[in-house]
Amino acid sequence: MTKIDARKVEADFSFPVALITALDGDRRNVMAATQVVLLSYEPPLVAVAISPSHYTYELVAASGEFALNVVAADQIDLVRHVGRSKGRDVNKFAQYDIPTKPAEIVGAPLIEGCLAALECSVHQIVPTGDHRVVVGHVLAHHHYSDGPALTLFRGKLE
Ligand SMILES: Cc1cc2nc3c(=O)[nH]c(=O)nc-3n(C[C@H](O)[C@H](O)[C@H](O)COP(=O)(O)O)c2cc1C
Repeated sequence: MTKIDARKVEADFSFPVALITALDGDRRNVMAATQVVLLSYEPPLVAVAISPSHYTYELVAASGEFALNVVAADQIDLVRHVGRSKGRDVNKFAQYDIPTKPAEIVGAPLIEGCLAALECSVHQIVPTGDHRVVVGHVLAHHHYSDGPALTLFRGKLE
C-alpha cells in the first residue's frame, strides 16, 4: 500500500484559521488551529483536532472549556506567533502583546480583532490517530465582522 503523506493531503484543502484560547485556574494559553469544523446544528457542536502534546490541549482537557476565535486576514502575524511558540515556554499573551476581552460564559479569554468567537464547553474528546478531536458545545456565539477571513491553502496563510 502506498504511504500517504498527510501533509500533502492537507495542502489540497483550504482551511479557515482559528485561535483556540483556554484557561485552567491561573494558566491560560492560545494556539493557532486549522483543523476546525462545525459538526452539528442542533445541538450546536464544533470540533477541533488538537495534538495532545500541546499545552492548549492540557488546559482544554483540564478545564472542560475553550473559546474558538475566527481569525481576520490582518491577523496573520499573530497566527504565526502563537502557532510557532509553546505556552509551556512562554506567556504568549505578554510576549506578543495580544489584546483580549473576557468571555461571557467560559473562562478562556476572547481575542480582540477576530471576525467571530465561540464559547464552548467540552462535549466529548475522541482519540484520533496523533490528534484528539475535541468536540465543543457552543454556549455563546459572537459575530464581530464579515471579513475578510484568513485561510490556509497550499500550505500558505493568505
Ligand atoms: C496556521 C496553523 C494552523 C495550525 N493548526 C493546528 C491544528 O489544527 N491542530 C493542532 O494541534 N495544531 C495546530 N497548529 C500548531 C499549533 O498551533 C502549535 O503547535 C502551537 O505552538 C501549540 O501551542 P501550545 O503548545 O502553546 O498549545 C497550527 C499552527 C499553525 C501556524
